[in-house]
Amino acid sequence: MKEQLAKIKADAVSAFQSATDAAGLEALRVKYLGKKGELTAVLKMMGKLSPEERPVMGQLANDVRAALEGALEDCSKKLEAAALEQRLKDEALDVTIPGKQAVIGHQHPMNIALEEMKDIFIGMGFTVMDGPEVELAELNFDRLNAEEGHPSRDWSDTFYFDTDSRVMLRSQTSPMQVRAMDTMPLPIRIVAPGRVYRKDEVDATHSPMFHQVEGMVIDKGVTMADLKGTLNAVAEKLFGEGTVTRFRPHHFPFTEPSCEMDIQCHKCGGAGCPTCKGEGWIELLGAGMVHPRVLEMSGIDPEVYSGWAFGIGLERTALRRFKIDDLRLIFENDVRFLEQF
Ligand code: DAH
Repeated sequence: MKEQLAKIKADAVSAFQSATDAAGLEALRVKYLGKKGELTAVLKMMGKLSPEERPVMGQLANDVRAALEGALEDCSKKLEAAALEQRLKDEALDVTIPGKQAVIGHQHPMNIALEEMKDIFIGMGFTVMDGPEVELAELNFDRLNAEEGHPSRDWSDTFYFDTDSRVMLRSQTSPMQVRAMDTMPLPIRIVAPGRVYRKDEVDATHSPMFHQVEGMVIDKGVTMADLKGTLNAVAEKLFGEGTVTRFRPHHFPFTEPSCEMDIQCHKCGGAGCPTCKGEGWIELLGAGMVHPRVLEMSGIDPEVYSGWAFGIGLERTALRRFKIDDLRLIFENDVRFLEQF
């Protein structure tokens, strides 16, 4: 029996040491130390020993068990340490590898121009208003003094939703004037930026969808001088100090008198060059004194109140502001173009 125990001890210890993983080691524990294991089998034979031999063998068997348990514990620790080391190796991070730089976008040039414009008007005490792109023809035309028969109402100019031409994609932001007069207390000082739609073919200066910023002031004693003073100040803020403007007579159904404002070409200083197509001036916006009939239709007494309004093309402003020569670049969204702003 003594030899048997010694053999078990030697076999078990060397087997434990050759185990390569925790599962293998557990199998060996069961094999040697388990209930049906080899050591237990020997212990079961103790009963057959003489009373003198029994305590001696008992002691020896306990020593062997303790030795095996000790060896098992050592091997298990060694395997755990090796497994940890392997994991650390496998999951190692090389903190010296250069990182991948995240590409951060920025505002579209149209948005930059719009934000600048809003800031300028907010600074002058205007409120920014938002309104629908799907508009009633009544507000887009009738209430702006462009009644049935006006050329801009033609099917070939305007996107209608219905056959009786009552609902449409607004062709201008001017209906926002009516919406402001219908909903706001006087005096009114608003700007209303947004998309407008016309049946235009796409080319370097046209698009069936573009943006306008509408502006309107209504108060007592408002004159054309206020209009000119304000728009001159805006032009200088947008395009730089000393920007020269001129006002030309024009016609719009909803203003009287009406005008267009040009800015002097920044390239040639008015002499005429390819940028201004030889004109020396670049048209920027339409404006005028709000027509008394328009005021009346909104329930405002033109004998007491007067007002002025303007509509500025935002694309045109952005093209000038960033010296871009083709409108299509604005809408194509080629990142090589957009990255330049
Ligand atoms: N709505 C006009 C257009 O689209 C522009 C315009 C002209 C707006 C004169 C105005 C204005 O408010 O007073 O051509």
